[in-house]
Amino acid sequence: MVPNALFVACVALLAAPLGVHSLWPIPRTLSTGSEGLKLAHGFAIQFQGSLSHHAPADLKAAVSRTLYQLKHDGLERLVVGRAGADTDKIAKARQLNALKVELVASASNNILGITQNANLPIGMRDEAYTLHVPADGSPSVLSANSTLGLFRGLTTFSQLWYTSGSTIYTVEAPITIWDKPAYPYRGLMLDTARNFFPKADILRTLDAMSYVKASTFHWHIVDSQSFPLVIPEFPELSAKGAYAPDQVYTPADVQEIVAYAGARGIDVMMEIDTPGHTSAISASYPEYVACPDARPWASFANEPPAGQLRLASPSVLTFVQQLITSVLKELPGPYFSTGGDEVNLNCYKMDNITQTQLVQHNQTFEQALDTFVQATHKPILGAGKVPVVWEEMALNNNVTLSNDTLVMVWISSANAKAVVDQGFQIVHAPSDYFYLDCGAGGWVGDFVAGNSWCDPFKTWQKAYSFDPLANITSDQAHLVLGGEQLLWTEQSSPSNMDSIIWPRAAASAEVFWTGNTLPSGNATSTSEALSRLHDLRYRLVQRGIRAIPLQPHWCALRPHACDLTA
Ligand SMILES: *[C@@H]1O[C@H](CO)[C@@H](O)[C@H](O)[C@H]1NC(C)=O
Ligand SMILES: *[C@@H]1O[C@H](CO)[C@@H](O)[C@H](O)[C@H]1NC(C)=O
Ligand SMILES: *[C@@H]1O[C@H](CO)[C@@H](O)[C@H](O)[C@H]1NC(C)=O
Ligand SMILES: *[C@@H]1O[C@H](CO)[C@@H](O)[C@H](O)[C@H]1NC(C)=O
Ligand SMILES: *[C@@H]1O[C@H](CO)[C@@H](O)[C@H](O)[C@H]1NC(C)=O
Ligand SMILES: *[C@@H]1O[C@H](CO)[C@@H](O)[C@H](O)[C@H]1NC(C)=O
Ligand SMILES: *[C@@H]1O[C@H](CO)[C@@H](O)[C@H](O)[C@H]1NC(C)=O
Repeated sequence: MVPNALFVACVALLAAPLGVHSLWPIPRTLSTGSEGLKLAHGFAIQFQGSLSHHAPADLKAAVSRTLYQLKHDGLERLVVGRAGADTDKIAKARQLNALKVELVASASNNILGITQNANLPIGMRDEAYTLHVPADGSPSVLSANSTLGLFRGLTTFSQLWYTSGSTIYTVEAPITIWDKPAYPYRGLMLDTARNFFPKADILRTLDAMSYVKASTFHWHIVDSQSFPLVIPEFPELSAKGAYAPDQVYTPADVQEIVAYAGARGIDVMMEIDTPGHTSAISASYPEYVACPDARPWASFANEPPAGQLRLASPSVLTFVQQLITSVLKELPGPYFSTGGDEVNLNCYKMDNITQTQLVQHNQTFEQALDTFVQATHKPILGAGKVPVVWEEMALNNNVTLSNDTLVMVWISSANAKAVVDQGFQIVHAPSDYFYLDCGAGGWVGDFVAGNSWCDPFKTWQKAYSFDPLANITSDQAHLVLGGEQLLWTEQSSPSNMDSIIWPRAAASAEVFWTGNTLPSGNATSTSEALSRLHDLRYRLVQRGIRAIPLQPHWCALRPHACDLTA
């Protein structure tokens, strides 16, 4: 009986449809066949209609990158025998000569580029596309109503193919896809203040983000430990606050990063955290900072060194407004974050200047904080942009926020409901699902048995199991803009950047692109996702991202063979 049962199981495995193991995030609607198709030697991506004469430069560049990926990914299919398993299918495969790329219903000569689309207000970004890859060798067609949609479609197209020697092929033709994201905000947050990340590492990360169709790079650029942002109007901030003269982001660096992101469909949302997390400002403007490096630090801040902006000081308000105005004008995106997390009351209590100013203005701490937050949001609103804050500003402090303020929920997933109950739009960034830094122990030297505060390590499965609409009513669902995974970098640098982010950050990219339903109509599940995530991980490695393995290679070649129930 046992050999028979095994035999039946093997036949069932072989007879099962191949499934699209190669796509991440999986499209909303998808149908595939089981025929082979290979790219012809002269395979070309051709612009149709208005695009043939007026394709924006960033779309042309995206096409070039796609052709490069098709040629150089060099990924063999993840099956026992790898490419050798497909010899028969490849031999019978028709050749595909072209992918035709068209903008539907656009006769305009003034076509918005990917970059311009990526920086539109979030509700106006059109990322939808359709893609048809016939099995008979007739041209494939990618169409969309925006160049951003075309870019997302090119990203999908680039994931359809495997390599066998010099042959680039699929075994799943014909393929038809209709796709658009479930949520517009699909992000990754990087902290570049606890440890510094050179520009090249950020650019590589933006590439990886674009491979999983992420839409937002949340750049937590400065913090108490260092101030690497060069602001020409306030050069001393970075001159005295950066770790080293060459560990800074100049205006040219920021422009390059913003442009690189935009061309990959990614909006850069910068954060200057205030009034807490600002000790680094004391190096250049000691008069603006309360309790700088006060000890014991744990009484005055969640992390050393302590130090917060003197929130009741009129000259500090003017300074922060000028600082935000200077930074804002370099950024094309619609959002800007003023942070607002972990404001420490003890720090202000021990600061005689703040106490004196509160008395002078006849204000409580809460009132002064309200004045401060409104003042810092004024230049953002004045520029027609949307202020972003961490959840405490909505839940713990009595501050008046404009009704379009975007609130990042980070302390716990369970707090999302309370924020949307106030009518604010939210981004899910909960530490209990999406923090990439948890589980690496305590980093404080004399804390031998210490764990990270957000233990345990958040696996990709945990992140993938997140439900964006948990406890949120259907009339509140529109307030959920999406979510992001976050890397706080107390224990990260370029040396472990790829491995701590990838492939884990792909989990939320799919949660917020695909939503909770697979194209089959079934609910998403980690067991369905695993083989596709393997595929993505191997492809990331082929593209130069040092993503870590999810399992032994043996399991990667045998979908479901390492499931608990297998
Ligand atoms: C493009 O717009 C047309 C007309 O509004 C619509 O029918 C079509 O679904 C859109 N295509 C995509 C890929 O969103
Ligand atoms: C604040 O004022 C108190 C009382 O006047 C004084 O004892 C203390 O040293 C002052 N603290 C600082 C940091 O100046
Ligand atoms: C301070 O404010 C309180 C409440 O807002 C008010 O009752 C009081 O008269 C004010 N005191 C001064 C000196 O302005
Ligand atoms: C919050 O602020 C408003 C307006 O400043 C005030 O009326 C209200 O009493 C404050 N609530 C609390 C709980 O402090
Ligand atoms: C904010 O309030 C204004 C004016 O009442 C309204 O037009 C707008 O739709 C509101 N925005 C949000 C996000 O609720
Ligand atoms: C949903 O509500 C339940 C019951 O109040 C709570 O236990 C759970 O943590 C909440 N989950 C989220 C994600 O808000
Ligand atoms: C959907 O889920 C059901 C129940 O788990 C399963 O039997 C079926 O094979 C799934 N369908 C697809 C297309 O994966």
